Amino acid sequence: MRGYTAAMKRIGLITSGGDAPGTNACIRTIARRCFNAGITPVGVFDAWDGLLKGNVRDIARDDVTGIVQTAGTILRSSRSRLFLAPGDAELARAALARHDIHGLCVIGGNGSQTAAHLLAQTGFPVIGVPKTIDNDLVGTELTVGFLTAVEMVTHALDNLRATAESHNRVMVVEVMGRNVGWIAVEAAIAGGADLALVPEFPFTLEEICARLRTRHETHGRNYSIVVIAEGAVDSQGVIDPQSASQDRLGRPKLGGVGANLAREIETRLGYDARCTTLGYLQRSASPCAADRILATRVSDKAFDLLVEGQTGLMAGLQGTRVAPVPLADVVGKLKRVTPDYFRLAQVFG
Ligand code: F6P
Repeated sequence: MRGYTAAMKRIGLITSGGDAPGTNACIRTIARRCFNAGITPVGVFDAWDGLLKGNVRDIARDDVTGIVQTAGTILRSSRSRLFLAPGDAELARAALARHDIHGLCVIGGNGSQTAAHLLAQTGFPVIGVPKTIDNDLVGTELTVGFLTAVEMVTHALDNLRATAESHNRVMVVEVMGRNVGWIAVEAAIAGGADLALVPEFPFTLEEICARLRTRHETHGRNYSIVVIAEGAVDSQGVIDPQSASQDRLGRPKLGGVGANLAREIETRLGYDARCTTLGYLQRSASPCAADRILATRVSDKAFDLLVEGQTGLMAGLQGTRVAPVPLADVVGKLKRVTPDYFRLAQVFG
């Protein structure tokens, strides 16, 4: 209980952006630390839009019992346009004040941490908890939810290998990853895929076809597995990952690169090719043990930072330690797949 600020009597918790396995373990940890310290944890439901609408209520002990193993978020989530316009941070601050919330833990990815940063700049006490299956936040080596997503995709690759091999097919597996390809490369390495295509390293159809032709015709393989991130970029623009429709933030809804790639492979090489899109299943699995532990550790640190009177920080995994990183150093950046990692995912084709 050292150095805790007496002013911090009600701590708010908010989850925003895409859900990720381990989020409930974060909520549980912060709530439990609150109970132990005589602080009231306050749940903001439905993210920032919910805050403005007053979807706020105190969290009870029973709310966070038996949730460490569950996917999703008991606080629910959404992508919000709040914080895009000047003055939005003051609106959020006023809403928090109306609910007598003295400090806030923001559990989320890039958009959420940007919101946390803007809110902290108004002088409101805010600490971030890194949560996104994309693992694209700088300031932390891992984000909550990522390892479970990799596990899920790896199992899918293990299973898809059987059907690909039985039917002499190229199996293209489309995974999430709008701006970065961490899920694609790590699952490709763990699942023994032959190629991984990611947004950071644009590909050409010629290169892919050449790689597959060598594997099938020189190395005598009868099947291949290609993992492609939804945001992977064909440098010649034959395959376009963007759909006509947009999400609430005005970003193109992604999806379809995998199917298009499978079609091109069939046309150009004459190999039988199929696509499996893993979609939201990647976000829906029960969190793996490593995610539950990471969620618990970063949230425990976030609680400590907040009650010690700190603000504008995110609790990140740095090496084996959880340590604070200024939100100013986190926002507006992307942790991209490195050339070395990308190379490793291509070695086994
Ligand atoms: O959480 C991030 C993410 O997994 C991205 O990789 C993907 O583009 C996005 O979610 C899609 O989620 P939604 O359709 O919920 O916006």
